[in-house]
Amino acid sequence: MSGRIPREFIDELLVRVDIVDLIDSHVPLKKTGSNYVARCPFHAEKTPSFSVNRKKQFFHCFGCGASGNAISFLMDFSHLDFVEAVEDLAGFAGLEVPRESITYLPEQKKEDLTSLYTLMEQIAAFYVEQLRSSDGGKKAVEYLKKRGVSGDCASDFMLGYAPDEWKTLALRFNPELLLKAGLLVDKEGGQPYDRFRGRIMFPIRDKRARIIGFGGRVLDDSLPKYLNSPETSLFHKGKEVYGLYELLEKNTKPQRILIVEGYMDVIALAQFGIHYAVAALGTATSQAHLDLLFRFSSELVFCFDGDKAGKEAAWRAMEPAFSSLKDGRQIRIMLLPQNHDPDSLVREEGIDGFISRVQTAETLSEYFFGHFSKELNLSELEGRAQLASKAKPYLEKLPESIFKEMMLARLKELSGWASLDVLENAATLASKQNPRRYPRPDKKQHQDKGRLSSARMAIALLVQNPRLAEILEQREIDWNELEFSGADLFKNILQTIVDKNPANVAVLTECYRDTAEERSIKALALLDSQVPDDKIDTVFGDSLDRLLTQSREAILARLLDKSKTEGLDAQEKELLRKMLTVKSLVQNNRNL
Ligand code: UTP
Ligand code: MN
Repeated sequence: MSGRIPREFIDELLVRVDIVDLIDSHVPLKKTGSNYVARCPFHAEKTPSFSVNRKKQFFHCFGCGASGNAISFLMDFSHLDFVEAVEDLAGFAGLEVPRESITYLPEQKKEDLTSLYTLMEQIAAFYVEQLRSSDGGKKAVEYLKKRGVSGDCASDFMLGYAPDEWKTLALRFNPELLLKAGLLVDKEGGQPYDRFRGRIMFPIRDKRARIIGFGGRVLDDSLPKYLNSPETSLFHKGKEVYGLYELLEKNTKPQRILIVEGYMDVIALAQFGIHYAVAALGTATSQAHLDLLFRFSSELVFCFDGDKAGKEAAWRAMEPAFSSLKDGRQIRIMLLPQNHDPDSLVREEGIDGFISRVQTAETLSEYFFGHFSKELNLSELEGRAQLASKAKPYLEKLPESIFKEMMLARLKELSGWASLDVLENAATLASKQNPRRYPRPDKKQHQDKGRLSSARMAIALLVQNPRLAEILEQREIDWNELEFSGADLFKNILQTIVDKNPANVAVLTECYRDTAEERSIKALALLDSQVPDDKIDTVFGDSLDRLLTQSREAILARLLDKSKTEGLDAQEKELLRKMLTVKSLVQNNRNL
């Protein structure tokens, strides 16, 4: 639980573990040709499109696009974060995870965390007991009944009651730990006292069932209506949601997850059989929240009250929403009728009415452009100009994806602004580096098909066989002399190979986790080069030759052009001389 995991260990792990064995232990695989296949564990399908490649140590589903190495598989399959997945994988390989620094989280602190979790558990149990048996608790039960919360539901959510006294906890538990757990308020000069008094208590559990904080509601109209645990070493509001543990108890792979505003909304929905709602804890939904939830479902539905505050909150949610929308993920926005929250609405309309609202909730694109059409007059040039300038910053946040291209196309259509091409070209350019979509017919691609394919072939072979970087070294190729579309990515990969010396493609892709290049690298890793193993070096060498010739011609043309207009500096002249010499050498060779 402490310190950084050394990079070398992760690399070693990825070399030691065979992804085929790992996946086979979770999803039985069948061998077909050089691949192992199964029905995809990440989406529903009748015929197998999920395949695992032993040589590449990579999995890929042609149906839903899921792909990655052994760590990615565990993250997706077992809903783990990165560190948890590495720990799990190490367990599978029978290895102990080493940690780089023990000072980072000293032994003392580790013990503290364990005792804090235990304390939270004891206190939640104490609050439950108080709800059931104390006098104050009876009032709380009445209140819950009045609000229509059943006994079963209260016990599913482990609801409790904090007695209306100043020192209930302090007298029973270790005060030092209570302070660390945020359960006491320590006012300067005075004695610490219980933070939660006379409130219905909602324990907040993380996905591993550990209690990390509490929310508490008053039984009347007094203020503040809700109190939440402060930030502690266990509890980080910006990263956790209420109800996730309870949701996963019912279904580990829900088709969608609703994000609502309040504790009582989550509970009311669960009671009506909608077990897939969670609430952000009195804060705006962050990208961390969305990334957490997208690990469990590919569709999130934001649910907002229909009042002004709810509409504003919906709009504020757009920024994290756009940043988190990779291909395959979907977000819908559901605005409730005025003066309703999910709790009141589901009680008034019943489950069917509520579910049909969920199903017909606006898609993010409808909501996004609808918002502007309401706000701006798009029949006037000024309105359309505003649309373009206001919408663009959001669209730029979208990760490179088909969705992004479609959103840009729609914006162009609505605004009628041709300069948007600049933006759009940037998106297609990036997507061209992503061979997953190379097969898309594209005029430009047909023109220089041969050229593009040498580059693609060279980069893909390099990604899939990092050892090929040696060939470049042996030939003493000056990287500055590489100029072709995709050269930057090629150089980037070379640099990574030189720096990290990855043993195979799974380790190389690991170096790119959470970087801008991750998608491109994965796509290159998956590309089927159709080159037999014993021909790899030759084919790589040949495509390299073609790229070098191409680069020289490109550089030559550029320099000659510049020499006619602006003139060249000393360095450029030297380069030009070199290029011309090489060219004549090559020609002489051909003439021989
Ligand atoms: P609401 O006031 O909409 O609460 O706040 P609600 O869930 O509908 O509550 P009921 O139905 O009156 O019981 C929504 C959420 O905002 C946070 C809580 O997380 C609450 O569930 N909140 C609200 C606070 O943190 N403090 C407050 O004083 C009020
Ligand atoms: Mn409410």
